[in-house]
Amino acid sequence: MAKSQINLYYKNVTVDELGEEHKITKKQFEDLAKKTEPLISQLNKERKEGKTPYRDLPIRTEISQEVKKIAAEIKDNCENLVVLGIGGSALGNIALQTALNPYMYNIDDRQRRGPRLFVFDNVDPVQFASFLDWIGDKLDRTIFNVISKSGQTSETAAQFLIMREMLLDRLGHNHYKSQVIVTTDAKQGTLRRIADIDKLKCLEVPDGVGGRFSVLSAVGLFSAAMCGIDIDLLLAGARDMDTMVSCEDFYKNPAAINAAINYYYYNHGKKISVMMPYSYHLKDLADWYRQLWAESLGKAYALDGSEVHIGPTPIKALGATDQHSQIQLYREGPNDKLFTFLQVNHFDKDIKIGLVSDCAPELGYLADKELSALLNNEKRATEYALLQSKRPCLTVIFPEVNEYTVGQFIYLYELTASLTGALFGINPYDQPAVELGKEATFALMGKPGSGYEELARDIQSLTDIDTAYLV
Ligand code: PA5
Repeated sequence: MAKSQINLYYKNVTVDELGEEHKITKKQFEDLAKKTEPLISQLNKERKEGKTPYRDLPIRTEISQEVKKIAAEIKDNCENLVVLGIGGSALGNIALQTALNPYMYNIDDRQRRGPRLFVFDNVDPVQFASFLDWIGDKLDRTIFNVISKSGQTSETAAQFLIMREMLLDRLGHNHYKSQVIVTTDAKQGTLRRIADIDKLKCLEVPDGVGGRFSVLSAVGLFSAAMCGIDIDLLLAGARDMDTMVSCEDFYKNPAAINAAINYYYYNHGKKISVMMPYSYHLKDLADWYRQLWAESLGKAYALDGSEVHIGPTPIKALGATDQHSQIQLYREGPNDKLFTFLQVNHFDKDIKIGLVSDCAPELGYLADKELSALLNNEKRATEYALLQSKRPCLTVIFPEVNEYTVGQFIYLYELTASLTGALFGINPYDQPAVELGKEATFALMGKPGSGYEELARDIQSLTDIDTAYLV
């Protein structure tokens, strides 16, 4: 397959239609370049020092080899693959599957290139019960991939304990072992301990790689490889993007331009960042981006310890669907958003719209045209309408959606998150605010340990329903 390059198109943050207040001028770009270039070098240096191991995932071929080896061993006897994980241990898997496999993949056997894939990233009992009803008599043809870096996350642990008991009851210990693959830390954590004791097959979450930066490790690669996605091509795309985003010339580096524009607008009244793919296949990459943005950039403290409470709010919208639900607000509501469209130039498949009968001449403009033309013209129409309302717009252009371009996109956005974090002067790799919610859940669910009882009392005093306020 010829290599096709994704591009970031940024003219529509510079045009006069936006007016002085909302456009970025040449001079402002020059200032942004001066501020950003040293940070690109700093990030490259930190990478060399081993401080950002996610950056090397595309070149760590031993990971993809191990993933492909295990996938090859089990694929033939596997009709269903069930991923149990949450946050960074699920969103990448979902995004890859939606982007790179057909819409009817799970339902139409002719469109499947591997097992059906189910990713459970929640603990809704009704949803899970419905799934258990269906999977109950298929356990011997189903592989469960339990993914948790910490091995402690309540949602994943609960799902795993349910499945473990069901597998042990129905299939016995030996068979249970062959149906579970654990992806977790190489050495520590609860899940690692269970895996060692139960003698389960394991893949690793690499050291120092946080959940939202882990999709190009075994976390995301295993389900992708099982479902027929070419993970070598995915990594090749990421590697080629790595070369581009390591470039220390601001104007040649798409992550630098993207980060600088995001940083500029955040500081000029646009604290919301909307990603709007015009492609069903790309819609869950916008979900993946939401986590990347929110957890990486939403921080209370800067690196120097000052209190900043910073971070753009990421929103996802889907074109053309959300034109009919969100655009009224986006055009006439507060001018507080930066828009990023994802556009596909060449769709894998296309469909001609039928001819119109004489009774509806007003639909004649659609007749004999391709659906792709309608979708892409809708993107242009929306962009035009937003520009008329002085709303800045970026576009990431995919020549086509395939493993190579999706790999590029993932790496482009990971680096953009790192650079935007550097521009904000915050640490984009931690998520301290997520931890309190996890601890509070432990406390409420009765986990023994120091402080949990007191924490539970504290939570109850604030969240117990006070009937005086029920109307
Ligand atoms: O990005 C992150 O670090 C989080 O979203 C985690 O991925 C999520 O909380 C799940 O954690 P774990 O993989 O430890 O179960």
